Amino acid sequence: MILQSIIDLDQTLLSKIESLQTESLVKVFKMITHFGDAKIVIIFTLLLLIFLLSKKEIQKFYAVFFTTVGGALTELTLKYTVLRARPPRMLMFEGDPSFPSGHSTMSLMFFMLLFFTLKDKIKNKFLKFIFFVACLLSASLIGFSRLYLHVHYPSDVIGGILVATLWLMIGLNFAEKFITFKNIVMKFLYKYIVKQIVFLFDPENVHDFFNVMGRFLGSNIFTRLFTRAIFYYKNPMLSQKILGIKFENPVGLAAGFDKNIELYKILPEVGFGYEEGGSITGDKSEGNPKPRLWRLKKSQGLIVYYGLNNKGSDEISNRIKKEKFRFPLGVSVAKTNCERTALSEEGIKDYLKGFNLTKTIGSYMTINVSCPNAHGGQPFTDAESLDKLLKVIHKNRNKKPILIKMPPDLKRSEIDDIIEISAKYKIDGFICTNLTKDRMNKKMMAKVHEKNIVGFGGISGKPVEDLSNETIKYIYKKTQGKVLIIGVGGIFSEEDAYKKIRLGASLLQMITGMIFEGPQVVGEINQGLVKLLNKDGLENISQAVGLDNK
Ligand SMILES: Cc1cc2nc3c(=O)[nH]c(=O)nc-3n(C[C@H](O)[C@H](O)[C@H](O)COP(=O)(O)O)c2cc1C
Repeated sequence: MILQSIIDLDQTLLSKIESLQTESLVKVFKMITHFGDAKIVIIFTLLLLIFLLSKKEIQKFYAVFFTTVGGALTELTLKYTVLRARPPRMLMFEGDPSFPSGHSTMSLMFFMLLFFTLKDKIKNKFLKFIFFVACLLSASLIGFSRLYLHVHYPSDVIGGILVATLWLMIGLNFAEKFITFKNIVMKFLYKYIVKQIVFLFDPENVHDFFNVMGRFLGSNIFTRLFTRAIFYYKNPMLSQKILGIKFENPVGLAAGFDKNIELYKILPEVGFGYEEGGSITGDKSEGNPKPRLWRLKKSQGLIVYYGLNNKGSDEISNRIKKEKFRFPLGVSVAKTNCERTALSEEGIKDYLKGFNLTKTIGSYMTINVSCPNAHGGQPFTDAESLDKLLKVIHKNRNKKPILIKMPPDLKRSEIDDIIEISAKYKIDGFICTNLTKDRMNKKMMAKVHEKNIVGFGGISGKPVEDLSNETIKYIYKKTQGKVLIIGVGGIFSEEDAYKKIRLGASLLQMITGMIFEGPQVVGEINQGLVKLLNKDGLENISQAVGLDNK
């Protein structure tokens, strides 16, 4: 019944259109309609382009993807069901499959995609509106040209536009839910398969393996895109400009995972907002003897006794000094782990060598005075030595921000000294904190559930979390929120991350959480932070900084 009345209406409208046909218009419409035939190729090229060029939210990519897939499926379903019941239309040329509603559906999608892709580039509201109307008209023109040439029924064009609009709406809504679903699947795969296997092997070998994997995945556009499709997440609520540096999101990779600064091509695709490479040292260093990394499975931590193994500032700076980085890179500098540098003068010379060779690379520098595993301990957390070190660094610095990586085991008075000396030399912020090495700290040790652990090395992960949070809280209060604080230590979830932010950290870093939870945790934390901000009625992550510590 309904179909019959649609067919009748189609016939009436078609005979009206027939009376309007002129030869010259037929020529023009034939040209336009051929453009419509190229729709599939154009749409998929556009999809690829969005993906390649997009500094855009991944949600848009998925929205576009689902819209296209949904549209194509509807198209095929209609073709082989309802529309079969209708009398065939004239073919435009031999072999033209003439998908009934396809041209209008697909062309509308194409122009809407074009609109969504480019709209942010047009700042002027009026021009944006004109662009939108132009996109709509262009889409309708393709549908109308097919109608005019008698290849389509009028109802196909209207139906096509309705179907496309519906899919566009579904696609946009579905994208965020799909990301959640994808993360759940990835988490499941990591927890029950990947982790079960890799945790059977020596932790340092696994670390080396993931570094090789990361270098491979970052080495070419295809594996980078693949990684991006699986892990990447972006939301403008997470973006901040801090010390003149734009951070797309607050979650960074902490120093120590990418010691030789080799993973900067893949980490943005995994969803990190930035990374801190290193710690690099003046000279190349083999680090401490192996074994030197242990998992604390029950405590969700690691014991680290690497001792600053890295290829040294000469080799590293030579390799990357001309590179362009796709996200902010911090370079962490420490002093070479050997007997010579244990003395203050030699230690300062060594820091300076690493600092001078890398100070033009990346976006910020970190002076790591808190490695728990180097020869001679941490002499530069002592006020007098730190003053000497920072004096020399200050003389040699350029405009780039400099941060200090704090240990978690200091007394309040020692932290006060460091804050005071740092202010004297215009240090821009503190990273709170490094590994804990204080095995006499009963509160911390209560969180280490394994028995018979090695008696040396620094502990990461959940056992260091409270110490890190207390340091953030104290420094934020003491400096009245005037210096940058980066929170690191025991972040495994968005709640852990948000807690540090509300205590005063503007940015975050992590390693252990990623090892225990899987790489998708970076996107999960970012997506979770957006939800928490929405719940608190905040528009940007920067508004949450220090809220619990005023
Ligand atoms: C394997 C490993 C190596 C590390 N090496 C360094 C380093 O070279 N320089 C540094 O400043 N911190 C280093 N750290 C400390 C981390 O940057 C971070 O401060 C600490 O692990 C706490 O964060 P997490 O609990 O998220 O791991 C290392 C940590 C780990 C787990």
